[in-house]
Amino acid sequence: MNENRENLKKMSNFSRVLFAFSALIIVLFFLTTTFPTSFFFTNTNSFSHFLATTFQAKNNTNNSPSSSSNDQTHQPILSHWRNPFIAFKGINDISPSPASTNQTVSRAISPDVANCGPVELPPGAITEPFCCPVLPSPLKIIDFNDFAKPNATLRVRKPIHMVDDEYMAKLEKGIAIMKSLPPHDPRNFIEQAKVHCAYCNGGYPQKPPFQNLKIDIHRSWLFYPFHRWYIYFFEKILGSLIGDPDFAVPYWSWDSIEGMQMPKHFANPNSSLFHDLRDPNHYPPYIVDLNFVVGAESTTQDKQIGYNLAFMYKQMVLANTKEVFMGGVYRHGDQAQPAIGSVEQAPHNTVHKWVGRADLPSQEDMGTFYTAARDPIFYPHHTNIDRLWGIWTSLDGGRQDYRDDQDWLDSEFYFYDENLNLVRVRIGDSLDTKRLGYVYEETEIPWLHAVPEPSRTKLERQAKKVSFLASQNPITKFPLVLDSKVSVAVNRPKKLRSKLDKEREEEVLVIEIVDLHSDKDVKVDIHVDDDEEMLSGPDKAEFVGTFTSVPHGRHKSKTKYMVAISKVLENLEAEEDEIIVVTLAPIVGKGMVSIGSIKIEYIPK
Ligand code: C2O
Repeated sequence: MNENRENLKKMSNFSRVLFAFSALIIVLFFLTTTFPTSFFFTNTNSFSHFLATTFQAKNNTNNSPSSSSNDQTHQPILSHWRNPFIAFKGINDISPSPASTNQTVSRAISPDVANCGPVELPPGAITEPFCCPVLPSPLKIIDFNDFAKPNATLRVRKPIHMVDDEYMAKLEKGIAIMKSLPPHDPRNFIEQAKVHCAYCNGGYPQKPPFQNLKIDIHRSWLFYPFHRWYIYFFEKILGSLIGDPDFAVPYWSWDSIEGMQMPKHFANPNSSLFHDLRDPNHYPPYIVDLNFVVGAESTTQDKQIGYNLAFMYKQMVLANTKEVFMGGVYRHGDQAQPAIGSVEQAPHNTVHKWVGRADLPSQEDMGTFYTAARDPIFYPHHTNIDRLWGIWTSLDGGRQDYRDDQDWLDSEFYFYDENLNLVRVRIGDSLDTKRLGYVYEETEIPWLHAVPEPSRTKLERQAKKVSFLASQNPITKFPLVLDSKVSVAVNRPKKLRSKLDKEREEEVLVIEIVDLHSDKDVKVDIHVDDDEEMLSGPDKAEFVGTFTSVPHGRHKSKTKYMVAISKVLENLEAEEDEIIVVTLAPIVGKGMVSIGSIKIEYIPK
């Protein structure tokens, strides 16, 4: 009996222990699946540190060119709002369940379409600051779904110099009809131009809580996709108005030798393609200067073609990372204009300037964004820009763009389509032009092998460099107001990189522009290991690029300028050098730019 009781007692003690033990196991199991193991070995502070570093590390890979220590001071708004966000994003990063991945905060840019407001205009503006479209009431928005069927006829965009007068007559007719539509019809020519104005001069705020930040589709990764969609709807509207849905806007191929003049139809005063507010000196047979700036001395016409081709090579072939070519990462909550891409600087900005009236304050209409799209030549100009985006993506057997970044893919814009529907589009839906129903006619690319030559011998360059480093104080004080030419010694953290290294990472010269007068024309030429007294021309290897700014508004802004220099340093035989000498030559807008820092970064390709 006693023995039995004893056994029973033992049994219940045992089951109590067993119960407690299994409960402990369950709790432990729950904790380990919810939190990372490191949680158990760290205190709370280092846990939040862990979360923060997890996020920052991830963020840095997406943001590599902007991960400088100065960023916080340049974008003060980021530092305070990010903190709660860091923790939130961090938790999602480490918990794999699909339910929680859905909660990842999207930082895609999306304009607050219902809150469009007056834009900011440069001084002496010639139009009113109202660029917002009339919205349907009640507000009805449809998501873009008009993809081309797999076997549909594609619209073929051809170079203007290769299409006949009959084809150009269709373009003339379409633009004439658009100009004649009532003023508030979204298909009206000026209404179309205002779409560009609203997106460029701060008509749209970002969505809350960042409604104080205005969206700008220039100087960032939005540049190519925004303009692709913009031209897409323009083309569809024009095609429907002339009853030819297969009509494609031809492109002004200023990068080919035959295309280096303003297309003749645009110079005919009786054509709807003619526009008053243009520089009358630049009509044919004058050759376009892809490195143009108002007020600077221009090159002789016979040298211009060679200059243009070498310049194209630099802007397209040498600009071999997405940040350098497409512009900087720009997310919900970021200040506008993080960094401008190579072709957006020039030829994009420079051709805008070249077309506009030199004697108007901002070279209206093409020379500034609030009026640029009022000139019919805007559209073939941008069709060529859109074509160059496609060509760039296919260079070197395929270059990496931003398509693995969900925020880029999900960024949105709004346009009216040819049926007067207000349509919301995503960047992710614009990447394959065939799905949008069009392609470019392939033509020869004359600049593909126009490799720029150095203007001096290696010995001469080295002698210059040695005397520069000996004679001057190589430590330059930043911020540096660019009121005259200046040369700066820049350290190279790595020298003599292997072939593999160069294939993986591009050596990029990053110039932070901390104080840019947005209302002024600015052009700063950048040279490496050149002779400050006798700077090389745009067809030479020492001339590595140019920073240009088209007047936006009255505010001051910050941005970044990047040049890829791996190939340049090979050409200049400077790969072994610890220091390169960077010369900044303000050509126009002296004193209108301050430089925050100049350094070299290695950016993954
Ligand atoms: Cu949005 Cu050519 O400019």
